[in-house]
Amino acid sequence: MSSSPNSPIVCNLPRVSIVGAGRVGSTLAQRVAEKNLADVVLLDIIAGMPQGLALDLMEARGIEIHNRQIIGTNNYADTSGSQIVVITAGLPRKPGMSRDDLLKTNAKIVVEAAKNAIAYSPNAIFIVVTNPLDVMTYLAWQATGLPRDRIMGMAGVLDSARFETFIALELGVLPADVKAMVLGSHGDLMVPLSRYATVNGIPITELLDAATIERLVKRTRNGGAEIVELMQTGGAFFAPASATSVMVESILLNQSRLLPVAAYLQGEYGLEDVVIGVPCRLGCGGIESVLELTLSDEEREGLHTSAQSVRQNIERSQEIIRNS
Ligand code: LAC
Repeated sequence: MSSSPNSPIVCNLPRVSIVGAGRVGSTLAQRVAEKNLADVVLLDIIAGMPQGLALDLMEARGIEIHNRQIIGTNNYADTSGSQIVVITAGLPRKPGMSRDDLLKTNAKIVVEAAKNAIAYSPNAIFIVVTNPLDVMTYLAWQATGLPRDRIMGMAGVLDSARFETFIALELGVLPADVKAMVLGSHGDLMVPLSRYATVNGIPITELLDAATIERLVKRTRNGGAEIVELMQTGGAFFAPASATSVMVESILLNQSRLLPVAAYLQGEYGLEDVVIGVPCRLGCGGIESVLELTLSDEEREGLHTSAQSVRQNIERSQEIIRNS
């Protein structure tokens, strides 16, 4: 379409909407804006709270040297036309709780958020962060009716970052030089793939003994709970926000990074109609492909056990939604 020389230039900057302005949501807003990835709409049901956070972030722009808009709102209409919607809304864990204990409260919150958001951004790619992550992603997939390439959950990038951190600390090396992948559900049954973990290409099995690797795997599985126990009020948010921003970045910049993502499976790894963490290529279309790694019998069994527990919780959540 041509425009007259005098018509104003309309810049359609990418927009990322974040539903839930708690610690994960607000830190993600900061990461996305300060990495200069997109304008951000931060939405919460609490009146004034997202507006205050957005104003605070706007006032940091001159110091952080970026020009991204951050809007705080209680109204889904302000999220219109988002390229990406991230759902972080819901209650966090308290000490002693598992992520699954949050099922009842968070199921309704996530379904409502997903329905409201898709109504204003029908072309968006959705990333779910609310726990229990795999089940909430399934519910959001159902509620939006999106094709599976446009809806996913963030967990594997975080769990892998934790595994990488513990390996780096153990070896005294730069964390960025450690690469690892954690598959499966975001919970005690996650599947850290030690065999594929490396330090600049050197398998960790060459650098650490089996007992040490097992200790680091256990700490990874318990990574979220360790922080909840320490903090007592709420849980981790810096690393979860960083992990989500990496996914946002790979999509917006079409980087095609291969990341562990909670995806709706259609037969991959022998699993169907379940959401679980698997390696995916993330680009501007969302999940561009799911990589099927060759797994050992133990890893495959771990993934299937993990999927079984997600499935049970999906069934519980369907009942909750039917009865609500
Ligand atoms: C954690 C939360 C985000 O693992 O599940 O810290």
